[in-house]
Amino acid sequence: MFNLKLSALVFALPLVLAAPSKRALPAECAKLAPVAEDLLENLFEGVCGDSAHGALRLIFHDAIGISPVVGGGGADGSIITFNETELAFEANDGLDDVLADVGPFFLKHQNVISSGDFVQLAGALSLAACPGAPKVQFFAGRPPPKAASPNFLVPEPFNTTDQILERFASVGFSPPEIIALLSSHSIAGADTVDPTIPGTPFDTTPSVYDTNIFIDVLLKGFLFPGTAGNQGEVMTAVNGTLRLQSDFELARDPRTACVWQEFATNQPLMASKFAPAVLKLSLLGQDVNKLTDCSALIPQPPALKDTPEFPPGQFLSDIQDSCAVARFPDLPTQPGPPLDIAPIPQADGGDDDS
Ligand SMILES: *[C@@H]1O[C@H](CO)[C@@H](O)[C@H](O)[C@H]1NC(C)=O
Ligand SMILES: *[C@@H]1O[C@H](CO)[C@@H](O)[C@H](O)[C@H]1NC(C)=O
Ligand SMILES: *[C@@H]1O[C@H](CO)[C@@H](O)[C@H](O)[C@H]1NC(C)=O
Repeated sequence: MFNLKLSALVFALPLVLAAPSKRALPAECAKLAPVAEDLLENLFEGVCGDSAHGALRLIFHDAIGISPVVGGGGADGSIITFNETELAFEANDGLDDVLADVGPFFLKHQNVISSGDFVQLAGALSLAACPGAPKVQFFAGRPPPKAASPNFLVPEPFNTTDQILERFASVGFSPPEIIALLSSHSIAGADTVDPTIPGTPFDTTPSVYDTNIFIDVLLKGFLFPGTAGNQGEVMTAVNGTLRLQSDFELARDPRTACVWQEFATNQPLMASKFAPAVLKLSLLGQDVNKLTDCSALIPQPPALKDTPEFPPGQFLSDIQDSCAVARFPDLPTQPGPPLDIAPIPQADGGDDDS
């Protein structure tokens, strides 16, 4: 539905991404304005692509590294500062490419920004060129991280729904908040789940923050985009997209299926629930009273008029209805032949080396 118009949209964006206004910013925020400008202009370059997806993913992998049982500093930047430890965790597979891409920007600006603030600033800015994404708030003032996160705190796509819900619950996230966070998979892909096809998106439109992830994952899967037998992957319904086992199961679990279905046809709801859930993530392990609200540094992403549709050749009868209290609604089917979704072009350093 957006595929044809997307390139025109993408090229128009750099003009829209004017430098954030520096007027009336608290000093703690004003000193970060050049960092924000540099990231927008020279890392993301007005594209909701691989660099943006990586920066968004980094928020999660840094912040979730905290547990009431084994410790960890949460959203503290340990994934950057203690990268030699944390990048060796299996759940952080593929983040070496992300760090190769964004790390130089941290090193360039580390005299004015802590690694914890950098991860959250880059993540909030990463949405700036993603049509339909909400504006995510950004708070600054995180102290330097004290230590690496303990291992096994980042959920894996092969973890059970019980394990995933429990992990998030231990740091205060409800099942609907988890599904809200997972809407990030609308603008994401996998590099290492099937290492033969790096950059394979999770849904049909990985540069638009739309509801397709929630529609696509509920369709009956019948093919693998690359090789079969990868841990954490199940069959998908659209060639060229990769379906995570955890997304498949959360879409069908009685505890999460109805909120999943609600997001499938309500893009404004999906966006409005994502923003506070990401903010909460960005404050894990931090005392918000010691931070400064620098959300004025974050541009409003472009608007999107979303039209939920089934992919070409697929219909309501292909949906695996999973919410006990409401049938999945009938939607129009996008015209045309079955889609072959192209891989997401990889950022510098983003090849299949992990
Ligand atoms: C990754 O860790 C190494 C060793 O601790 C450090 O020298 C390097 O600066 C870190 N990378 C970034 C981007 O901070
Ligand atoms: C995910 O599964 C692995 C292997 O069973 C386990 O070691 C790990 O603790 C699980 N992670 C979570 C977050 O439950
Ligand atoms: C999937 O797409 C690839 C690349 O375009 C193509 O080679 C392959 O034949 C397609 N598979 C199916 C089942 O359509």
